Amino acid sequence: MSTEIESVLIENRVFPPFPNLVEGAAISGMDNYQAMCDEARRNPDAFWERLARENLVWDKAFTQVLDTSEAPFYRWFGDGEMNVSANCLDKHLNTPVADKTAIIFESDDGKVTSVTYKELHARVCQFANGLKALGYSAGERAIIYLPMSIEAVVAMQACARLGIIHSVVFGGFSSKSLHERTVDVGASLVITADAQMRGGKSIPLKAAVDDALAMGGCGAVRNVIVYQRVGGQLDWNNGRDLWMHDVSAGQPDTCPAASLNAEHPLFILYTSGSTGKPKGVQHACGGFLLWSLLTTKWTFDAKDDDVFWCTADVGWVTGHTYVAYGPLAAGLTQIVFEGVPTYPDVGRFWEMIQRHKVSIFYTAPTAIRSLTKAAESTPKYHPREYDLSSLRIIGSVGEPINPEAWMWYYKNVGGERCPVLDTWWQTETGAHMITPLPGVTPLKPGSCTLPLPGIEAAIVDEAGEDVERGKGGFLVMKRPWPGMIRTIWGDPERFKQSYFPPELKGYYLAGDGAQRDSDGYFWIMGRIDDVLNVSGHRLGTMEVESALVAHELVAEAAVVGRPDDTTGEAVVAFVVLNRTLPEGDEADQIAAQLRSWVAKEIGPIAKPRDIRFGENLPKTRSGKIMRRLLRVVAKGERITQDVSTLENPAILDQLSQAR
Ligand code: PRX
Repeated sequence: MSTEIESVLIENRVFPPFPNLVEGAAISGMDNYQAMCDEARRNPDAFWERLARENLVWDKAFTQVLDTSEAPFYRWFGDGEMNVSANCLDKHLNTPVADKTAIIFESDDGKVTSVTYKELHARVCQFANGLKALGYSAGERAIIYLPMSIEAVVAMQACARLGIIHSVVFGGFSSKSLHERTVDVGASLVITADAQMRGGKSIPLKAAVDDALAMGGCGAVRNVIVYQRVGGQLDWNNGRDLWMHDVSAGQPDTCPAASLNAEHPLFILYTSGSTGKPKGVQHACGGFLLWSLLTTKWTFDAKDDDVFWCTADVGWVTGHTYVAYGPLAAGLTQIVFEGVPTYPDVGRFWEMIQRHKVSIFYTAPTAIRSLTKAAESTPKYHPREYDLSSLRIIGSVGEPINPEAWMWYYKNVGGERCPVLDTWWQTETGAHMITPLPGVTPLKPGSCTLPLPGIEAAIVDEAGEDVERGKGGFLVMKRPWPGMIRTIWGDPERFKQSYFPPELKGYYLAGDGAQRDSDGYFWIMGRIDDVLNVSGHRLGTMEVESALVAHELVAEAAVVGRPDDTTGEAVVAFVVLNRTLPEGDEADQIAAQLRSWVAKEIGPIAKPRDIRFGENLPKTRSGKIMRRLLRVVAKGERITQDVSTLENPAILDQLSQAR
């Protein structure tokens, strides 16, 4: 395994479900859970058919549940027609949910605005009508590069309403990354903002779009629609650029939702793999929405009066499933937050939970770990200083949560009253796959526990054979599920190779190593490929290496991950320059230069924490870089392995001592 998150705390206690959360839960009690798992195993098609009919509004009923004829290109509900936006908004219009608050938006500087479901529906319709008036229609691709805002949700929902396939690019990605994605999806539309506010600072977005489009190959883009967030001067390309408010102005507040085939692509979201450029994970309307809605109901046991807050940005899958789609389809009131957890102070999250009376809180282990440190050093901002009694359920996503962080979260945020839901899933799985359920699962800190009903998760060896309990292996899904990835946009071959390698009997390969304990609980051990997880964000080592070697000073680079107390993993780069080895201040200066270069090429999240210069890299005689050894060096540990097969063993000492 390439990563192992080490922990000093061994927490063997098991935390049974709280009785008050069992009663009335969407899935209530272990027997109920087992019965659902059995139902799904006995007749999967009937199970998914029942759920799809009960939970989605269909314009045209489907007659076939799962089409396996072109496996692994599975089709779900493939002759049915529906619309995702109608299932998130229109469905509530003639119900009491219409006047309920859909989104409470809190800006970076603390200003709060909110919209009801009825108002959100009207705004989505007006913007969709505006897009239609500009000539956009189903099947075109739109890049969305927006800050967290009601407008971001409006933009995504308006695209869904018309069948425009959106590809959201996280606002922290550089213009270069934005360019790559715009070209790859062949976008005809870009929706952005003048700037975004984070931690009191204004960060330009429209300027990055201008740069990206100027890089060439984006000739299909007809318009750049700009949400005015900050104000002030902007370069403007007349004829191409339009204000979002002008696009919506004067448009009717109803807009028929397009009846789309359930398999129509809803979105493409880029994520890192072990080789090459990030891959465009393609999701389908019907299956994705069904799985988002079901997991919102099951995992969070969402109730009418809940105030739901998922802190993820819409630039990541978590912000798709649990901000833009799942909570709306479930008719919940949710918080959308523009800012960062440390501004104006490190008590921001706790203060917001208190003020908005949040009952379901869902965040990443990195945030928990950094807020733990902050709270311990500045007791004034410790969660115990806030009234967090509104919380019922607290969740974690994106990376392994180590038992210390789990216990801190459980005690100090959840007040020992709320289950910590360690949800395991991926961009590719669409929604939760392995997770505790509040009304069912005894919790073990550090384990994502058991698969959801309908999910056949297993641990297998290289030949696809089940491994014994307690042994590590590859995490796979033995059966398809509705929310699964459909293909990699424009690269079906890579889809097959990455996720359905022939030796694994047609199982879906997640790319994580894991093991099961004697109770059948899953413990994730980290990625089995060259993908790093930095603060819950996936990063391919190859991507960072390519960025580095694109710099004129760099001849060769190798990137590995090093375990980190706060961010889970940190990027460490070993670099060979095409000049003499720098020393002292000069080495520091070049390292700083390379760090900002990577930020420009990919985005600040990819910046190496540590850059080490060497005259060479450790290679086998056949020229293969020995990353395993580099990982040991990166950790600052002594090399105990046999290095006699190396071409140049002395290089290891040089790199260990390098700055
Ligand atoms: O390695 C696993 C880790 O994050 C990867 C998926 O990353 P991404 O597609 O960006 O989606 C993140 C949000 C769902 C997985 O392959 N991961 C995700 N959740 C967990 C996790 N590792 C351990 N425990 C988790 N709960």
